[in-house]
Amino acid sequence: MPWTRRHLLTIEELSLAEIGQIHATATAFKKILGRSVKKVPALRGKTIVNLFLEPSTRTRMAFDMAAKRLSADVISLDGASSSTTKGETLRDTAENIRALGADMIILRHAAAGSPLYLSKFLDIPVINAGDGAHEHPTQGLLDTFTMLEHLGSLKGRKVVILGDILFSRVARSNIHALTKLGAAVTLVGPSTLVPHWFTDLGVKVSHDLRSALADAEVVMLLRIQHERQSSGHFPSLGEYTSMFGLNKTRASWLNPKAIIMHPGPINRGVEIDSELADGDRSVILEQVTNGIAVRMAVLFLCSGGQPESVIPASA
Ligand code: CP
Repeated sequence: MPWTRRHLLTIEELSLAEIGQIHATATAFKKILGRSVKKVPALRGKTIVNLFLEPSTRTRMAFDMAAKRLSADVISLDGASSSTTKGETLRDTAENIRALGADMIILRHAAAGSPLYLSKFLDIPVINAGDGAHEHPTQGLLDTFTMLEHLGSLKGRKVVILGDILFSRVARSNIHALTKLGAAVTLVGPSTLVPHWFTDLGVKVSHDLRSALADAEVVMLLRIQHERQSSGHFPSLGEYTSMFGLNKTRASWLNPKAIIMHPGPINRGVEIDSELADGDRSVILEQVTNGIAVRMAVLFLCSGGQPESVIPASA
């Protein structure tokens, strides 16, 4: 099946086959990243603009690395140093970037739907690098890619997402990816941050940490999104940690082979103890590394590349 999608806006809109194509292409690119010369000419002559109007460490650097590994020219612009601080609209900023010759825009923005908005009038691909509390599709793709590397298949596998689900774009993208891949997903946290209506997305909701963690093969921690909360959804961080923080005792309730994930940034001692974040079961830094190969796949495919041109025929 040829790849036909020009933008990557959400995982919700991707088919299972498209998720598989991105993962398979990422697997091929990951092999290239293991070579002494970690570069291919796939996007030579293209200019990619990283427009990050919200803070980022991992996503911005991984997109930057991915574009450079594909031989594209990359320009990064952040909110503080852009003319948005002088009142320029997002549309004007994007159209000026296009007029300067960009071939693709990667957008992180606090407003849900802003990448979709740009995609309506720009004639170049738009990649969503996180829009408010809506979606963070490349994070969901790299998280499921990492799970697949460890578990082989996600069909029927128990995956727990623990923490601030309500305000998390990472949770939404993972829910869409995991349910399409057949995982049995349970969301856990205080009822104020994990409302029952999430069951409409085909997942279980629980407020009982022990029963939720029992025999789980993956647990993904999410940080409390202070910047998106306007009112207290729990009494204090200390009380959140005492009820829902992952520590050694609680981790013993997991399947013995379970992996521990976190999209970052981590609030050590709040949602996860350092000994677990840095321990043998943690794949947190693998997630970060896999972010480069997955984003190479997304940039390549949305620029018009086809999976079969990088995936060996034997794969
Ligand atoms: N996971 C993630 O989106 O991290 P950054 O905010 O550092 O990009």
